[in-house]
Amino acid sequence: MIFRNGDGVNNLDTDFLIVGSGIAALRAALELANVGTVLILTKANSMEGSTIYAQGGIAAAIGEGDSAEIHAADTLAAGDGLCREEAVHLLTNQGASDVQELINWGARFDRNEDGVLSLAQEGAHTMRRVLHARDATGREICRVLWQKVSGDERISVIEHALVLDVVVDEGRCVAARFADEKGRVLTAHSSATLLATGGAGQLYRDTTNPPVATGDGVAIAYRAGARVIDLEFIQFHPTALSLAGHPRFLLSEALRGEGAKLINESGDAFMSSVDPAGDLAPRDRVARAITNEVKRTGSPVYLTLDALPEEFVRKRFPLIAAACQSVGLDLARDRIPIGPAAHYVMGGVETDLDGQTSLPGLFAAGEVACTGVHGANRLASNSLLEGLVFGALAGRAMAHVSRVSRTRSALRHFEDNVQSVVGQAKFPTVKEVQDVMWRYVGLFRDRDGLGKAVSILNRWAEVLPKNCSDEGTSRIISLITTGRLVANAALRRQESRGAHYRSDFPSRNDIDWSRHIGESRHDDLNGS
Ligand code: FAD
Ligand code: SIN
Repeated sequence: MIFRNGDGVNNLDTDFLIVGSGIAALRAALELANVGTVLILTKANSMEGSTIYAQGGIAAAIGEGDSAEIHAADTLAAGDGLCREEAVHLLTNQGASDVQELINWGARFDRNEDGVLSLAQEGAHTMRRVLHARDATGREICRVLWQKVSGDERISVIEHALVLDVVVDEGRCVAARFADEKGRVLTAHSSATLLATGGAGQLYRDTTNPPVATGDGVAIAYRAGARVIDLEFIQFHPTALSLAGHPRFLLSEALRGEGAKLINESGDAFMSSVDPAGDLAPRDRVARAITNEVKRTGSPVYLTLDALPEEFVRKRFPLIAAACQSVGLDLARDRIPIGPAAHYVMGGVETDLDGQTSLPGLFAAGEVACTGVHGANRLASNSLLEGLVFGALAGRAMAHVSRVSRTRSALRHFEDNVQSVVGQAKFPTVKEVQDVMWRYVGLFRDRDGLGKAVSILNRWAEVLPKNCSDEGTSRIISLITTGRLVANAALRRQESRGAHYRSDFPSRNDIDWSRHIGESRHDDLNGS
């Protein structure tokens, strides 16, 4: 059942609470509904989130000649020495059967004329392994998962339920506080809570992410005392539409997988001369090469599909073709101006392979979590797979905490221990935060810029209200809290690796930095 606010829901005391309604949340919910009641709180319409906008597809080693080992090797190579190997092997071993399960549930991925699944090529994959539903793969996956979730009476969903914080009692997460559509602050109690709140692309001025991707889960977990890691690793997708006054619509990597080329103003396909892997090099290298080319030539960079048959382009990429048409461009014939945009957060709330965070009772899965599967750079189309595989695993693990008794009397919000609002100081706008992050914590970083960002964000963090129930204030609190964690980690990591590039430390340094940077609020309090 889907409710627009808390009115329809009789009982906010549920076995399992899930925050968010993307692929990780829905997959976990289906697992949990086998053993108890599930309440999903989601801050916008139930479909909203990155999942529904996913274009290129979902990676899985199911093609002829492919194997979980080869998929793992590609994932590890893209991760640039920082992946957690057991997480990678779990993802690639489990991936093919979890995707097959989606197909059994009715997911219609594209097939060749002979009925065999059509697999796309994307950057840094050594073979074709990406299942897709033309260029609207996320929409197809959402359709199938929602069909199953809606048919399950043990799962309730409250839309426009903005989770503000989780409640910690005697060192355990026991509830979440949320504001409903009417602005009332309610508390939902549970034995186990899953954060599946997605990413944080809205930290940046230019992003492919939808407005809901404001890093709430990282901020909520951090405030509750859970550990966050690897937040310096932000993936910038190289090819977002770059037209003044228009959103940064994603132009899928699958376009290059089918033969699209990056060209400069003079029409030169410059990637072949700057990277041995050319147009299909890992995203971080393509994104930096584009930025360098724009600087070198003083002109935009474009994507061209003019070598591909027009009919094929329109049939294979209808969504992208329509988006281009809406801004007066023909995907099959015109040069499409592109540029990098914040796309994905590799780091997040630290979890084990079951999605358990460092805070008992609190789990995380999907983009908000960091299992270590992506290391310093995510391989294309591994994110939907991560949500599917680790969403299910988190669900299975949460099922085991169903019998923990819930104490209601001694509930204490962790913020009671934190100093309250500081004065009447003015706090910044979303745009101010995004500009600071884009300028100093973007694709190219150095000590001076990062130092500036950290001090600005620290200053802003001091004047934030500690309690709020409205969306606008909640968004700014999340952006500053998460942005500060990203900038701090980026300042600390004095090397370049994967998506984290420091102009002042341009090489990878395995001797000092083959390790993860993590932080928790308790470190702050202890001064470590
Ligand atoms: P999401 O799907 O983002 O869902 C997060 C949910 O949490 C939303 O429902 C949101 O409303 C809710 N939420 C957030 N904060 C709160 C709060 N405080 N209270 C309540 N609810 C909250 N990956 C691939 O593997 N293949 C692709 O082809 C691909 N294409 C992409 C294209 C685009 C344009 C984008 C933006 C991303 C793409 N990605 C792709 C990445 C991938 O889509 C995401 O990483 C993945 O879908 C994240 O799933 P999720 O379940 O973790 O979160
Ligand atoms: C894309 O289609 O290029 C996005 C794929 C991804 O983010 O994995």
